[in-house]
Amino acid sequence: MKSEKKTTHKPNRLFFLLPTLLTCGRGVLSRTRRCRVVRDNHSHQKCRPISLAMRRLPSMRTLHWSVAKAPKLGLLRQMSIDARRMGRSESRRPVRVMEVSPRDGLQNESEILPTELKVELIQKLIDVNLRHVEVGSFVSPKWVPQMASTTEVISHPVLRDARKSNAINFSCLIPNLRGFEAFEKSNACSGVNRAPVVDEIALFASATEGFSKANINSSISESINKMAEVAARAQSRGIKIRGYVSCAFGCPYEGRVDSKNVASVTQELLNIGCYEVAISDTIGVGVSRQVEECLNQLARSGINLEQLGVHCHDTFGTGLSNILTAVELGVQTVDSSIGGIGGCPYSPGSTGS
Ligand code: HMG
Ligand code: MG
Repeated sequence: MKSEKKTTHKPNRLFFLLPTLLTCGRGVLSRTRRCRVVRDNHSHQKCRPISLAMRRLPSMRTLHWSVAKAPKLGLLRQMSIDARRMGRSESRRPVRVMEVSPRDGLQNESEILPTELKVELIQKLIDVNLRHVEVGSFVSPKWVPQMASTTEVISHPVLRDARKSNAINFSCLIPNLRGFEAFEKSNACSGVNRAPVVDEIALFASATEGFSKANINSSISESINKMAEVAARAQSRGIKIRGYVSCAFGCPYEGRVDSKNVASVTQELLNIGCYEVAISDTIGVGVSRQVEECLNQLARSGINLEQLGVHCHDTFGTGLSNILTAVELGVQTVDSSIGGIGGCPYSPGSTGS
């Protein structure tokens, strides 16, 4: 294994500000490319051991505390002010934050939370100004029982009222036509003046066959066909479609992943109508050089990086540096998960985003 090479450059201030931007959901990041934050290689020598990295997920009480108090902390407020100052003095580009904790976070909790608690979490996310929230999924309850109450969540009056009074976008993850039909039925019941509460869906595919089979019981090409059916139906209803490509930097079943596979699955998702695809580090093994290589490969394949997001699980503590690298290269959307909760039940060893 190669040893880790330390950079002599000072880390970009932006790196330290990123948690605030993720927490508050209204950050503006500068385009500066003066230095690389982490000049890392593919060694995990300096990373936390997996037992530490796979820390216990916070209890719902801690979660509530962090949602409720985070914006009030003096340090975070100061960092926010610094971010605004930086934004004034340097060229700026807004970065959209997609908060996925009610779906990605809660799907990996061992406890199945009651609907009221899920809705309370969503309300608190809205209160701290997050404007794009993935609120659940319509996957099989046999596969992911934690998401079985998504129908009740999106029909809840709190979400309807939030949609009425704020510029909020809610989204749901859909695995197949059966899931889309269930979604449509619930969403129709939840509408405000015939406008649906959820106006966006998220489709997902994997860059590796192993994870695709484990997660959705389909090969990659079968899954793209299923997603294409859903996308066609969603487009006919005017519903926006976002995509995820899982295992972009590593797979729990196949190890290292070829960026060309990531590029081809990303292109397929864009072709079927996704307005954006989130390049996803499902098990959190990516490092920033790999992110750079992968995004360069995507750009060489003709993909516009402005149509990409990043969804970085933080298993080995590289999530923030990976996000910064992606944003500096032009990625527009960053996924966040409050309290760092999350993971996929079918990717052993993954932790939160
Ligand atoms: P399957 O067992 O192959 O499905 O599961 P099937 O088509 O053979 O149907 C079997 C039964 O499931 C049938 O019922 C279907 O009706 C039912 P039965 O006749 O036996 O009574 N069924 C459904 N029920 C409810 N909702 C549905 C649905 N579809 C079929 N939508 C399936 C295939 C895709 C459904 C299953 O594998 C599944 O639900 N997988 C989802 C797993 C999941 O949610 N993983 C986590 C989300 S992905 C993720 O976290 C990654 C991401 O965060 C990015 C990253 O970090 O990489 C997005
Ligand atoms: Mg995920």
